[in-house]
This record gives sequence, structure tokens and C-alpha cells, in this order.
Amino acid sequence: MFSKLSTRGIASRLGSLAQKTQPKETQSTEAAGSSASAAVFAREQKYGAHNYHPLPVALSRGEGVFVWDVEGKRYFDYLSAYSAVNQGHCHPKIIQALNEQATKLTLTSRAFYSDVLGEYEEYVTKYFGFDKLLPMNTGVEGCETACKLARKWGYMEKKIPANQAKIIFAKNNFWGRTLAAVSASSDPSSYEGFGPFMPGFQLVDYSNTAALEQALQDPNVCAFMVEPIQGEAGVVVPDEGYLRQVRELCTKHNVLWIADEVQTGLARTGRMLAVDYEDVKPDILILGKALSGGVYPVSAVLCNDPVMLCIKPGEHGSTYGGNPLACRVAMAALEVLKEERLAENAYKMGELLRSELSKLPKDVVSVVRGKGLLNAIVINPKHDAWDVCLKLKDNGLIAKPTHGDIIRFAPPLVINEAQTLESIDIIKKTILSM
Ligand SMILES: Cc1ncc(COP(=O)(O)O)c(C=O)c1O
Repeated sequence: MFSKLSTRGIASRLGSLAQKTQPKETQSTEAAGSSASAAVFAREQKYGAHNYHPLPVALSRGEGVFVWDVEGKRYFDYLSAYSAVNQGHCHPKIIQALNEQATKLTLTSRAFYSDVLGEYEEYVTKYFGFDKLLPMNTGVEGCETACKLARKWGYMEKKIPANQAKIIFAKNNFWGRTLAAVSASSDPSSYEGFGPFMPGFQLVDYSNTAALEQALQDPNVCAFMVEPIQGEAGVVVPDEGYLRQVRELCTKHNVLWIADEVQTGLARTGRMLAVDYEDVKPDILILGKALSGGVYPVSAVLCNDPVMLCIKPGEHGSTYGGNPLACRVAMAALEVLKEERLAENAYKMGELLRSELSKLPKDVVSVVRGKGLLNAIVINPKHDAWDVCLKLKDNGLIAKPTHGDIIRFAPPLVINEAQTLESIDIIKKTILSM
């Protein structure tokens, strides 16, 4: 499958990921009904860019696995802000850390030292077993940072000729919306109309080690970046053993393996990291989203000295990256994951959820897949996933379709058994009414 074409050349051959359902732009206001929600929808529509298509629900409060809309109706949150709210909404320990630090010192920039950053870096590097951490804010910045680190390492250590470094990605990857991220995308709705694109990016099939090995023959490849489970693609779980083989191939060809665990990491899949399922360690690990428990934008890139020290003062950074508020919030968020054994809970509740979902009629739910509490159902083409989500909302559970026919089910990891069973009842009732 691999060719020496640019990403765009490859991407154009892939065609679109099934974008079967076009956004129904009017639906928010049509479905609004009550006036408080309708006012929220209308104001966003009028004054905000139309770069999202939200489900028509206007939220004003969250606690644990629940959110409430402006009319006071309660919902199970089955999206968790795209897996950022693993620790549950407004977790008291994380909010306390936020409040305490907010009254002391919030931002210094990296022009100066703060008394928190080093403590945070020591805490996180020991937590995950890497030499060093580079702090950023959003997931996409973390991924971009990893790409820069890999290119720098490629020139300094692997001796790739100047400006020739290549990074391999898996088709259907998603790592955000910057120009570099969309340059690596095979989804036309991500990249179309945004060219020209970043050179030196190439795509191979996901979960295909033969294609990867062929790509790695090129001596100018510095890195392979991959999600252990492709989240935005619709919770695509690779074949067992894939990650172990990725590790072996990257080592064999002197190529850095970058694991994008922005969505899969931090207990979401039933292990602290999704790579833990195969007991392997990437050269570069990217974390984001739940690193702050949904409280603040915090991301991090972790790797060992031979890679991290390739970047020197002045070569990379971010005004807010590593700020004291972010560091305190992230330490509290990581403590919560361990103290509340959220990986174990995600594993158990995920098994329960999938075993019940797989009993649903196949003429509505054709596939159930996932690991831990990162799950998806595929809706039979006879039905519309958007309509299923509207009905779920009416019944007290909010989730969002992706790629037209897939619905992700990813509640906060603090969900208990009774809540899992109650939400399964809502899903069953909804599906049976279709
Ligand atoms: C795997 C993965 N990487 C990176 C990102 C980008 O994160 P952010 O939206 O915080 O920039 C996402 C977002 O969904 C993601 O799922």
C-alpha cells in the first residue's frame, strides 16, 4: 500500500471516510423547543463560527458522570468531552487544586522558573517512566511537538540529510486541526480547502505491519506516529500484537515510535496507557485531554534524554505551556486516576457495557467494539445515527455520532455499576424504539 507519493497524493486515492450524514444545520433550532435552550442555540449560531455541529442540548452544570441542561434536565455524559473528563465532571480534588493555585500564581511564562513546574515534571516522568517532559496545552500542540522532536532527532542523531526527514502516520489518524495535523489526515473533510500541505508526511494502512515495514525501508524516516486505538476514526481497535510489532519494527529500523495517547491514555481503555495492553513502551508519548480531568488545557510530551535534548533553548515553546495552574491541576488529575483505580473501573465497566450492547438487535446496532470505556457502536444504514443520538438525549443520555454511522460511548471513568446499568437501560430502550 505504501508509495513515495506525498500524503495528499495518497489521501486523494483513499476517498472520504464515510461521511454519510451531512450536518443538519437547522436541527439545533428546530429541536430547541424550550426557550432557555433555544436562546443558547440561537446566540451561538449568530455570533460563533459554524465549525461545529453540536447536538441540541445546552449544558450548564456537571458533576461526576452527569451533566444538566439549562432547564435542569439531567443526562449521562457518554462523550466525556472526547475523553477529557475521565475523572468525572468537576472532580472535587482537581477543582481544589485549581482554586488553591489560582490564588497564588497562575502564569509566569517560561522566561522564569516557577516553584511548581519542576515538581510536576518530576512527578509525571516518574509516573510514566521517562527521563523528561515537555509541557504544552492542547493535544494537537503535543502531537506537533512530537513531530518537531522527531525531525530534530532525525537530523542530529540519525544524520538524515537536511530537510529530508519523513514521518509516517496511519490512515484515518486524527490528531487535531492545525495545518500540520490536517496535512497528515486522510479525511477530506479535515484537509480539503486547506492546502498547501506539510511535506515529508506519508501514510500507511492502520494495523498493517507489512505496509509499515515497507515504509520504514526509507532511511530518511525519523518516526512513526500512531494511536493505539483510533478514537476519532470510530474507535478502531488494531489486531492484537500490532503495537508489539510496531515497537520491534521501529527499533529494527532506528525510527522513533510516537504513541499518540491523547485520547486512549490515562485509564480510558482500561489500562493507564493503551500501550500497556501489549507491555510496550514508545520512544515518545503524547498525553492531553484527561491530563487535566477536563478542567484546563494541558498536554505533555514525554521521552528520554537522547531525543528530548535535541531541542535547545529558543527552538520550541508556548507562553502557557507548563504554567503553575496547569501543573497543579494535572498532578491532581493524575493522582485521582490512581487513587480511584479508574483504569480497573474502566476495564470492568467496559466489559459490562459491551456485553450488554452486543445483545442489541443487529438490524439497528450492527457492530459493538472498544476497550475499557472507549467504545463505539455502528448503526445499521437503515437508521440514522444522528436520530439515535437525538432519541438518546430525549431519554437522558448524550453521545455524538462520528463519520455518519458510528456513535462513541465513552462515559467518565468514575461511572459505577448501578449507573452503567441505568445508562445501558436508556440505550436499550432507545435502540428498541428505533
Ligand atoms: C488521538 C488524538 N490526538 C490529538 C488530538 C487533538 O487534541 P486537541 O483537540 O486537544 O488539540 C485528539 C483530539 O480529539 C485526539 O483524539
